[in-house]
Amino acid sequence: MECKVAVISGDGIGPEIIREAKKVLDKVGQIYGHTFHYTEVLMGGCSIDAYGVPLTDEALETAKANDAVLLGAVGGDVGNSRWYQVAPNLRPEAGLLAIRKGLNLFANMRPAYLYKELADACPLKKEIIGDGFDMVIMRELTGGLYFGERYTKEIDGLMTAVDTLTYNENEIRRIAVKAFDIAMKRRKKVTSVDKANVLDSSRLWRKVVDEVAKDYPEVTLNHMLVDNCAMQLVMNPGQFDVVLTENMFGDILSDEASMITGSIGMLSSASLNETKFGMYEPSHGSAPDIAGKDIANPIATILSAAMMLRYSFDLDQEAAAVEAAVQKVLTEGWRTADIMAEGCTKVGTTEMGDLIAARI
Ligand code: IPM
Ligand code: MG
Repeated sequence: MECKVAVISGDGIGPEIIREAKKVLDKVGQIYGHTFHYTEVLMGGCSIDAYGVPLTDEALETAKANDAVLLGAVGGDVGNSRWYQVAPNLRPEAGLLAIRKGLNLFANMRPAYLYKELADACPLKKEIIGDGFDMVIMRELTGGLYFGERYTKEIDGLMTAVDTLTYNENEIRRIAVKAFDIAMKRRKKVTSVDKANVLDSSRLWRKVVDEVAKDYPEVTLNHMLVDNCAMQLVMNPGQFDVVLTENMFGDILSDEASMITGSIGMLSSASLNETKFGMYEPSHGSAPDIAGKDIANPIATILSAAMMLRYSFDLDQEAAAVEAAVQKVLTEGWRTADIMAEGCTKVGTTEMGDLIAARI
């Protein structure tokens, strides 16, 4: 198969983790007879340096012309970087929001899975962890507070800031359908998270999710208020299979879910639209403080590449081979600094990539 991938290495550790993911993809290509054609696209701080904006129209068009986007990380040190001395719509993160919207990537999947090998890094007590957990957060990604009208102006003599949260039924339905589809391939349970005791948008969310659920009689649906969900994630994470929620709640809950896996350096993500097209990126940021030191964990990016194989190219066997290679490396005791534990062997970014590629 010929696979056209737009690659956004981005900023900070982005280039080094992307290099390792490409190494693993190329090994997959060699073994299974596929060719990955990479086209580099600039986004984030590196695009600001080159063009003065975090994402050019040409970059977006190039991304669209490919079958999938593999993304490292964008952004720099908010306190110190020159990239943040400009208006919010010209900062690195604006590129990320623009590409999500521009590619209509409304469905963001963030798996949070506890590897047995890393259980010691989980901050929860053993009784709470039990047999571990394996959930996926389905976060709506192109609506809600992130994309509503916003302004800051003087109203009645007081500086006032307004952000608006809007969802229409179609936006809710399409993400709900994705969540139920994914649940059908997993443990058939959806927890829809909202704030229906306060917000109109949440009441509509609940109504539409209930309607969608009727088409999936095998899936168990429950509704949970977002504050309760934040608590349940650290009290009984094993109860969750698919967590379906709106943009802002998903942003917050996915960080919480990732933290209880022990390391954000392990977590992949996929952002999908109605077609096979998707953008795949680690859940972590650009970590400018450790960039270029060969200590970053490339596993989240490598697992994101595995998601790309599965969701954009329908290469299930190949995706499973990458996931198995990661599992094998962990079982054998190889660790990057962020997940290092007693009795294990510490390796750098490049060596971790080599080890995983060698096990494909
Ligand atoms: C994420 C990030 C982004 C978001 C930021 C960088 C704009 O936190 O992908 O979760 O809030 O969506
Ligand atoms: Mg976030």
